[in-house]
Parts: sequence; C-alpha cells; structure tokens
Amino acid sequence: MNGIMYPRIGGYWVNDMRFVAAFDVDRRKVGLDVVKAIITPPVAAVLHVDVEPTGVLVEPGPLFDGIGGNLDGVIEPHPTSREVTIDQVADRLAAVGADVLVCLLPTGATNAVQAYARAAVKAGVAFVNATPEPVAHDPEIAAAFVSGGVPLLGDDLRSHLGATTLHTALIELLQSRGLAVVNTYQLNVGGNTDFLNLSDPRRAAGKVWTKRNALSAAGIDATTVSAGPNGFVEYLGDEKACFIRIEAASVLDSNLVLDIRMQVEDSPNAAGVLVNAVRIAKIAAEQGHAGSVDDVCAFLFKNPPEGAPESVGIRKFRDYIDSVARD
Ligand SMILES: NC(=O)c1ccc[n+]([C@@H]2O[C@H](COP(=O)([O-])OP(=O)(O)OC[C@H]3O[C@@H](n4cnc5c(N)ncnc54)[C@H](O)[C@@H]3O)[C@@H](O)[C@H]2O)c1
Repeated sequence: MNGIMYPRIGGYWVNDMRFVAAFDVDRRKVGLDVVKAIITPPVAAVLHVDVEPTGVLVEPGPLFDGIGGNLDGVIEPHPTSREVTIDQVADRLAAVGADVLVCLLPTGATNAVQAYARAAVKAGVAFVNATPEPVAHDPEIAAAFVSGGVPLLGDDLRSHLGATTLHTALIELLQSRGLAVVNTYQLNVGGNTDFLNLSDPRRAAGKVWTKRNALSAAGIDATTVSAGPNGFVEYLGDEKACFIRIEAASVLDSNLVLDIRMQVEDSPNAAGVLVNAVRIAKIAAEQGHAGSVDDVCAFLFKNPPEGAPESVGIRKFRDYIDSVARD
C-alpha cells in the first residue's frame, strides 16, 4: 500500500492494531463508535476507506485545558468531561488491556496532554505523544516513564511527508554539497480544527518551538526562523499548504534560491507515521523498554529528546526495525 514503509514490524502487521478505548470531550463525539467519531464535524478529514464499526464507543475524558482559544464555541464539551478524572482514564486503560495510548489532543493543551501521559504511566501503557506539548521534554514526566518501566515516544509527530521533513531534507542536501543556508522560512496554512486552534498564537507556541528544534537538529541556526502555522483558511478543509523558501550561498558566494509549495491531505499524512509508532511502542513494551525509545524518535517526531538530520534519523530507525524483525 502506498506510504506504508513496513507492512510488518517485529511480527505485527498494520491490520493487527485494534482500538480498545477512545476518549474525547466533544459532546458530538462522545457515545459514537470511534470510526464514526473521527469523521464527525468539526473534523474536516475525508473518509478514504469503509471501516466496519469497532464496537468501541468514545468515552468522555477530563477536559483540563483541552478546549481554548479559537476552539471555544466550536467544540462544546460533553457535560461529563468536567466530572471524569484522569485516574478513571488510567483505570479504564488498565481494564481494557490497552497496550499503547496515542495522544492527539489539541496543541496548547499542556495540562491535558501531561495528565494523559501520567495516566499512561499509572496504567503501564506505552505512550505516543503526537502533540508538541512537552512530555518527552518534561524531565519529571520523562523520568516517571523510566521509573514506571513504560515506553515513551514523542514529542510532536511528524507527518509522513510533511513540511518539516521536506525542509530538513533539503537543508541536508544543500549542506552535503557545501552550500550554506543564509535565510529560510516555512509557512503553513490549512482549514481543519488543528489550524483553527493554531491560528491563536498562545495555543501555537509549542508548535513553533518544535518546528524550530527540528530545523536546528538539521544543522542550521533556527533561533529566529519563521517556521510554524501561519493561518486558518477555512475552505482548504483537511488540505494543508506549505511554502518553503531557502536562500543559500554556493560556489564563489553565488546565490541559490529555492521556492517550494507543497499541498497534502493533513489527516491521512499522519497515518503512515502512526502505524509505525504504535507498533514500535508495543514492541518496546514487550522488550521491557523504559522511557524514551530514542532510536526511532528522531525519524518519527519533530522534537525528540535527541534530534538528528534526516539521514541519521532514518538510518537509526531502519536499524531498529531490522533489530526487531522476526522470521
Ligand atoms: N497530520 C496530522 O494530523 C498531525 C501531524 C503531526 C502532529 N499533529 C498534532 O496532533 C494533535 C491533534 O491534531 P488533530 O489534527 O487530530 O486535531 P483535531 O482538532 O482534529 O483533534 C483534537 C481532538 O482532541 C479533542 N480533545 C480536546 N480536549 C480533549 C481532552 N481533554 N480529552 C480528550 N480529547 C480532547 C477534541 O475534541 C478533538 O476531537 C495536534 O497537536 C497536532 O498538531 C497532527
């Protein structure tokens, strides 16, 4: 299938993954089968495959700071989400025998993301932090995963082929031929609720931080580089457009200028990465891995504890996949 790098990782096929529980706060989604909830408005994602109902109904999660900024009024919290506790989430994860918890909460919901991470530690469930909010980068929480003997993958999921990966791969290409990046930017616009949320600078701060860290790991000084979400364009729906410009100095200080526009469908672009991350989290748990799974995180995340250029990240990732391969 296009975009699936490894149909099988360590004995697990893509279709070996199953939903066992789902949590949300949106009153339109709570109570729905999870396959229906993921395409229920205000979600802009387009359905690509017909999936049978799973029998797993979305349960109310604790609200914390999940809804804020431009999501106020767009997502109306289910009344129970103000009463349910994070300990109940941990108990539920343990009761259903969950192996991996994937956190896809809105950017800026630091308290909620960190609470779900702590619930995962309590339940002994591996955690994939798809958001930019610090979990692998929070020393106290990262240490809790180590002492709890629980695998952690994060922070901020890369898209399968998104703006960060294209940008960092191009920087590496230029540098490999001796060119120096003089100026660069990466502008992103989209029309889904992620972009609506990110159009509030207070909610977007984490995303700006993780994108800059990804560019720094690629080998440039990204301290002042504009790279982030740059606006909500409603009619784009789940389409996302990125505009990358790189100005570089080449031989005899001659100029090289790259201007690129890339358009992708945002939601499915996360799937190719998630099907890798979830299976690796499960395998890491089976191997008794405690804390950050560093060998894979530079490839799968924008802001891993140990960032690396593209070629290093993918080599370590492939080595890891080879090391867990089963006949
Ligand atoms: N291509 C991608 O989709 C992609 C790639 C990389 C990173 N990410 C990151 O993943 C995160 C989610 O992105 P998305 O596009 O799925 O966003 P989304 O807006 O489609 O979904 C966020 C969901 O979280 C729910 N929510 C809010 N507070 C909650 C709480 N306290 N408990 C449980 N659920 C809560 C919302 O109701 C909503 O259903 C963002 O941080 C985004 O930046 C997404």
